[in-house]
Amino acid sequence: MIRSVITGTGSALPAKCVTNAELAERVETSDDWIVDRTGIRQRYIAGEGEYTSTLATEAARAALEAASIDAAEIGLIVLATATPDHTFPATATQVQAALGCGGGVAFDVQAVCSGFLYALATADSLLRTGMAQKALVIGAETFSRILDWEDRTTCVLFGDGAGAVVLEARDVAEDGPGILASRLHAEGAHKDMLYVDGGPSTTGTVGHLRMRGREVFRHAVVNLADVLKEVLDDTGLAASDIDWVVPHQANARILDATARKLDLPPEKVIVTVDRHANTSAASVPLALDVAMRDGRIKAGDLVMFEAMGGGFTWGASLARM
Ligand code: UT7
Repeated sequence: MIRSVITGTGSALPAKCVTNAELAERVETSDDWIVDRTGIRQRYIAGEGEYTSTLATEAARAALEAASIDAAEIGLIVLATATPDHTFPATATQVQAALGCGGGVAFDVQAVCSGFLYALATADSLLRTGMAQKALVIGAETFSRILDWEDRTTCVLFGDGAGAVVLEARDVAEDGPGILASRLHAEGAHKDMLYVDGGPSTTGTVGHLRMRGREVFRHAVVNLADVLKEVLDDTGLAASDIDWVVPHQANARILDATARKLDLPPEKVIVTVDRHANTSAASVPLALDVAMRDGRIKAGDLVMFEAMGGGFTWGASLARM
């Protein structure tokens, strides 16, 4: 059967790291509050000359190298971001040009923190129709540029970065590698809980992120536990079969609560929120790359990806590496 197989991963972070103590000099907050409520200790913030496209390109290059393939072989780029370099063209097309891909399909998807899950499921579907053989799926963000740096309830939570995977269509055995199942959801009625108060069609400005954190938290735990169960039901596998969960890194307490709901031991959950904070669409591929490179995730492992974000949108994918 034809499946989309993850054959390489890569990631990129801005040069500048900002600690909680440094943020406490700008807004009324403290390292203790941030660590206690979120698990975040630091985040990376894009500086001059660092953009969503440059971080995405660096992550994509690392993923191509890990997969041992040339950019010219890539026929599809799906890039998830809510912070594109420009309103248009799609950041994916800028990455395509920077890599020297020379052709194929390239577009952005926008599902905020769930963006990578939406991009992965979209690329997987297109590969299985034969639209392309080899794809780059990227999550890349510069949320620091849409934060209200006076609002302590949001500015301490986010960071910048990018992660990428190479996805290849392969003819594999039933128990072979590849994406086994994906489920996506959206519920537009909750827009006011997490949104940006600007945009080209409304204010004509970029705007700032606004969030009712406590409500988002409550929805996240319920929705994520449900969608993980849906994906397991689709594949006939049990939570105990999962080797690793690579979740969206919004808050260490959401990661713990979701793992508890599914009876998953916390050691199986990849956690990078302490180092990267919430990097929106970049967080899942960033965390995956960390765990691939430090040797925790190995060939043959069953890995669950999951995310929830603005929209609301949420989703999960199960893959054998
Ligand atoms: O990635 C997209 C999805 N996003 C999420 O999943 C985020 C989900 N939500 C969360 O992670 C948490 O709700 C937060 C981390 C945003 C907030 O944690 P919380 O435990 O829900 O705190 P809270 O909003 O209930 O605020 C508690 C108190 C408030 O003070 P009062 O009203 O009790 O006096 C806040 O004003 O903490 C105060 N507070 C802060 N204090 C110090 C809020 N932000 C800060 C801060 N430093 N940065």
